[in-house]
Amino acid sequence: MKDNVRQLIAVAKEISLKSYSPYSRFPVGSAIEDLDGNIFAGCNVENLAFPSGLCAERTAICKAVSEIGPDLKVHILVIYTPTDTVTTPCGACRQVINEFASPDTRVICVCDDDSVLDIAFKDLLPESPIIDELKK
Ligand code: THU
Repeated sequence: MKDNVRQLIAVAKEISLKSYSPYSRFPVGSAIEDLDGNIFAGCNVENLAFPSGLCAERTAICKAVSEIGPDLKVHILVIYTPTDTVTTPCGACRQVINEFASPDTRVICVCDDDSVLDIAFKDLLPESPIIDELKK
């Protein structure tokens, strides 16, 4: 595993400690590396009105866009969950990631076990709209 991936995993784990998850008690952390090597991270932020809660992946994306603007290009996105098996992004997060991902964006899911899922975004959301085509 390359150093940048190790660092992203460490950042995702660390930010999971900031999670606001009193309802699920399931803290999640996500870290993004963009194509320029910038790193952003987010945790899940829940709400009494459940659908108003935000997953860690979307928090990380919103933080990244807020910092660098609308041209964010996600190179790698890591998700950490404090579980024995990995967790993949929910459907809503896949849809949001699609706005800023390429088919080859790496999504890396890690947990407290050694298992790792390292998957290309195109395999997480097959046949997704090609956003760059739609933006033209
Ligand atoms: N959650 C995430 O933040 N990311 C995932 O990939 C899976 C689920 C959050 C949403 C909610 O706050 C809690 O985990 C339980 O589902």
